[in-house]
Amino acid sequence: MTQIVQATAEAIAEAAARLHAGELVTMPTETVYGLGADATNDRAVASIFEAKGRPTFNPVIVHVANRAQAEDIVTFNIKARLLAELFWPGPLTMILPRREDCNISRLCSAGLPTLAVRCPAHPVARQLIAALGKPIAAPSANASGSLSPTTPQHVAMSLGAKAGLILAGGKAQVGLESTVIDLSGDTPVLLRPGGVTLDELEMHLGEVLVETEAVGDNPKSPGQLLKHYAPRTPLRLHAVDVREGEALLAFGNLRFMGMQGGGFAKQKLPPDWLMNLSESGDLTEAAANVFAMLHALDGCGAQTIAVMNVPDAGLGIAINDRLKRAAGAQAAEKK
Ligand code: TXA
Ligand code: MG
Repeated sequence: MTQIVQATAEAIAEAAARLHAGELVTMPTETVYGLGADATNDRAVASIFEAKGRPTFNPVIVHVANRAQAEDIVTFNIKARLLAELFWPGPLTMILPRREDCNISRLCSAGLPTLAVRCPAHPVARQLIAALGKPIAAPSANASGSLSPTTPQHVAMSLGAKAGLILAGGKAQVGLESTVIDLSGDTPVLLRPGGVTLDELEMHLGEVLVETEAVGDNPKSPGQLLKHYAPRTPLRLHAVDVREGEALLAFGNLRFMGMQGGGFAKQKLPPDWLMNLSESGDLTEAAANVFAMLHALDGCGAQTIAVMNVPDAGLGIAINDRLKRAAGAQAAEKK
């Protein structure tokens, strides 16, 4: 049976004890909910892959309490220290070389010589890592290939009892997975856009290569496989109208949308078929809403979800990345 509990001090202590015993626990983070395991325990990390139905070639992010704990497991360089100083705790994941004496399960690296490390800002995640006294391996707490969860209910719907104990810590504030940057080579490479924007990274690092699209069948970051964050209902991107049988994921003022058939009002969409990422056109608000609204519209009964354009700058780059993946390769080609 699925177990959602408020993240009280007792619940966090119980969760830490379960992690210590090799069980899985779902924890809130500021980006999305994570399915956590003791990162030093091979069997526990293996059970993450099993619970998510996740291909074992996909490596897992290791969550740390602070930079010192990260420096115990990976080798930092000047750029990594600078970014940790600026953006930790927060929605930034850095790929760095594993230290030789690294005690983190090799499964977290999925055969790579590197590890992804992140220091989350959510107080419950922080307390849980502190209570365990070890890093926590945690991918997003959803079945592989489906939408990332921003509420405990999303987790329960996607994973059921496989989520282990679910610590409830409110709606995830950032709402998109962390930015992933590879700092293991000479030039930083952005692998996944997220809460920390490319502009911010370039401002502090200078040149940053962008490899957010998978190249061939063997992507550098396996999470780049295109159809990754997918709802069941097909999406139609760049919508400037709403068609028969379609729900609408809007952004900004609907008056700017030239609606087919004489204006939006006449479309008479059922209220639960229309969601607006941000009526005021605020990208931070839109990022926080995107997965929850896709979840909701996926369940409303529409044949297709029409999606209005979101500006492709700042946090909008990460939002569009997730929307494009949700739409899948087919829809992306058709447009
Ligand atoms: O916001 C987040 O990052 C959330 C929360 C729970 O922290 N976690 C998350 O984890 O999104 P996950 O496993 O769903 O995504 C991790 C991404 C994947 O695209 C994976 O391929 C990539 O990071 N990744 C992990 N380790 C890597 C490595 N050593 N080299 C390259 N890519 C790596
Ligand atoms: Mg994920």
